[in-house]
Amino acid sequence: GGEHDEICKGGKKEASSSGDAATDFEGERAYAVWVSEIMLQQTRVATVISYYQRWMSMWPTVHALAQASQEEVNTVWAGLGYYRRARFLLEGAKKVVQDLGGKFPRTVEELQKVPGIGSYTAGAIGSIAFKQAVPVVDGNVIRVLCRLRAISLNPKASTTVKLFWALASQLVDDHRPGDFNQALMELGATTCTPTSPSCTSCPISSQCTALKLVSRVEKKVASVT
Ligand code: ADE
Repeated sequence: GGEHDEICKGGKKEASSSGDAATDFEGERAYAVWVSEIMLQQTRVATVISYYQRWMSMWPTVHALAQASQEEVNTVWAGLGYYRRARFLLEGAKKVVQDLGGKFPRTVEELQKVPGIGSYTAGAIGSIAFKQAVPVVDGNVIRVLCRLRAISLNPKASTTVKLFWALASQLVDDHRPGDFNQALMELGATTCTPTSPSCTSCPISSQCTALKLVSRVEKKVASVT
């Protein structure tokens, strides 16, 4: 499940064809998840796919990326916008290679010390690549959880965002945290949309408190009209 199984296809190959370097599958996966999540932050999946594939064929590992120049990186990034993201990827790759021996940090706290990796990206790498039961919260996840629990708070307030990180960390599935987090994001992007959500095709509608409340009101309205 999730975008990464789709996007990362063909992303990682020849992990260590030379044979002397130890194969670090999760580390390779961390790099792939990192690149795709940064691309996905302000750009939709359909647009990202071809950019991601080109990027990964240019720089299949964090070591390869660390050797790139800013100009090369910008050329491959061209069209995605927000070039700051491309700068951070190169800067982050250099840090991982030069300061950390090419090994991605394994905890969300340590991951966040890499330039451009914030709580969202750290959660994505931690859960998807390293299979840690850590949450990922973005705007879509906040909307889904808001409705699921019928929480009427301003979703943009920083105190609210904090609350949702706490709620998401309680909910995240211990066995498949990456799939769980990606399913929540995907649900928000495709089904639990900002306006006119598709509740009839929602796989968790039976657990949705907001839908229960709305249905109750609709029944009441129907009974008096
Ligand atoms: N949006 C950004 N990253 C995503 C992911 N990994 N899965 C689903 N939607 C996403």
